Amino acid sequence: MNNPGPSRPGFSISPGNRGPRFGVLGSGKGSNFRALAEAWRGGTLGSEPVIVLSDIETAGILPLAEEFGIPGQFVSPGPFRTKMAPEAEEEIVRLLRDAGVDFVVLAGFMRVIKEPLLRAFPGRILNIHPSLLPSFRGLEAWRQALEAGVPEAGCTVHLVDAGVDTGAILGQSRVPVLPGDTAESLHARIQIAEHELYPRIIREFGQTIGKES
Ligand code: GRF
Repeated sequence: MNNPGPSRPGFSISPGNRGPRFGVLGSGKGSNFRALAEAWRGGTLGSEPVIVLSDIETAGILPLAEEFGIPGQFVSPGPFRTKMAPEAEEEIVRLLRDAGVDFVVLAGFMRVIKEPLLRAFPGRILNIHPSLLPSFRGLEAWRQALEAGVPEAGCTVHLVDAGVDTGAILGQSRVPVLPGDTAESLHARIQIAEHELYPRIIREFGQTIGKES
């Protein structure tokens, strides 16, 4: 095995490796993960998903990982609703390091990221959010957009920092809000844009950190 678990991210990229390695955290059905895994399988992603972790034992993203032959694991989140317990987040860090990941991709992970992960992967955690940030941070951003009556919605890929949906923006896609839209129809349109945007930005991000290493 090439990657004995780096003491800091970036160390595992070496000649002979196919590209940077990333871990995925998700709480839901995993449609964004599917888009990434299909791009990886199709040879267009550049980076390689090597582990999938979920705070929800029944999340669709876990069987999806199995479908793609990628190790998946449930990590018990502890007693809090909006964040992982510190020891649970330390466990996630350990699993990601053991898998030799260079960066981390949040794909519908519904908890706020805290110090253990931020410290372990500084500037190396990406998230996709279903709005044109900085507008409509937080939950059900598509519904917030609809209720605000804006003519345009979309999605944003950004780096994760200690705030909620506040990190540096790496890319955005826009979609129209159409007459008669419901929260569901708008979210579905945004998700189609997400599935194109996330693989594209991860391809670029992998190239950037590949050059840094
Ligand atoms: C997406 O809308 C994403 O923007 C948000 O959570 C949702 C995850 O969906 N962060 P999926 O599990 O990838 O289908």
